[in-house]
Amino acid sequence: MIDPKQLAVKDLHQFILGTVAPRPIAFASTVDAQGVPNLAPYSFFNAFSSNPPVLVFSSNRKVNDNQTKDTLHNIRETGEVVINSVNFSMMRQMALASVEYPASIDEFIKSGLTPVASDLVKPFRVAESPSQMECKVKDIITLGDQGGAGHLIICDVIRMHIHEAVIDEQNRIDPHRMDLVGRMGRAYYVRASGPAVYTVHQPVNEMAMGFDQLPESIRRSPVLTGNEIAEIAALTEWPSQPALDLLSLEPAVAELVLQEEGYMHLHELARKAIIAGSVDRAAGILLLADPLYT
Ligand SMILES: Cc1cc2nc3c(=O)[nH]c(=O)nc-3n(C[C@H](O)[C@H](O)[C@H](O)COP(=O)(O)O)c2cc1C
Repeated sequence: MIDPKQLAVKDLHQFILGTVAPRPIAFASTVDAQGVPNLAPYSFFNAFSSNPPVLVFSSNRKVNDNQTKDTLHNIRETGEVVINSVNFSMMRQMALASVEYPASIDEFIKSGLTPVASDLVKPFRVAESPSQMECKVKDIITLGDQGGAGHLIICDVIRMHIHEAVIDEQNRIDPHRMDLVGRMGRAYYVRASGPAVYTVHQPVNEMAMGFDQLPESIRRSPVLTGNEIAEIAALTEWPSQPALDLLSLEPAVAELVLQEEGYMHLHELARKAIIAGSVDRAAGILLLADPLYT
């Protein structure tokens, strides 16, 4: 149990970072009133609206000395920012840009990243970022005046740029090509591609049965995990009686139904079917196991 008021801010900060994770990273490019570029990563960041397209990130007061950051100062001066995404191939360059260099230092030069002119705002885009969003700042909400306090920077996206190389045949972003990284607590990051990326197909308009419609023999399965039972609960209907009759004639199933340990073995068989992607078949096997449940 943690009472936020009783904990040192630096410790609370780490518990929040470890819990609200992984977080997307806004690689924020700004310029000051004289046009000096600035680049810094912000992972208190997300999208909050698509129509109008609105992004929000938070620039916090430093916990150590309560100072505010250059990105915030620049945005107060100019009202503009480009939010660039961060992928695996540039993450160490992004980390370099997070060093607290003096305001006069251009982090594009420090990080070795390439500035490209934007179409509608003064701050540069990061050429290496797979997507870049040119933004006008709509509002800044100050959340406090002590170290760690955030300033919510609310941004209207007025232009998006997406590298063609990350777009697939359906004109959608392919996460594996995008290869984004997310920030977690301490020095941990996560790479969102390859085996770390899953698909969960859940039709929104069709009524999935839900856990409450499953017999107790399935809900209390000693074999299936919560995720596996959820795959059964996500079906909209049970297999038909003719399908069940056919299933019960399969030698492996017919034999197990007669065994003393049949319930467990049938659940193991159903589990294999779920893993193989045959969820309807698994549902049938589980129904045939139901009379054996005690
Ligand atoms: C991946 C990453 C995410 C970060 N997220 C935030 C954040 O959400 N808010 C914040 O105030 N600082 C964040 N920081 C720290 C700032 O990047 C750092 O203080 C930077 O020097 C600020 O630069 P600026 O003064 O040029 O704006 C983050 C650092 C890293 C490496």
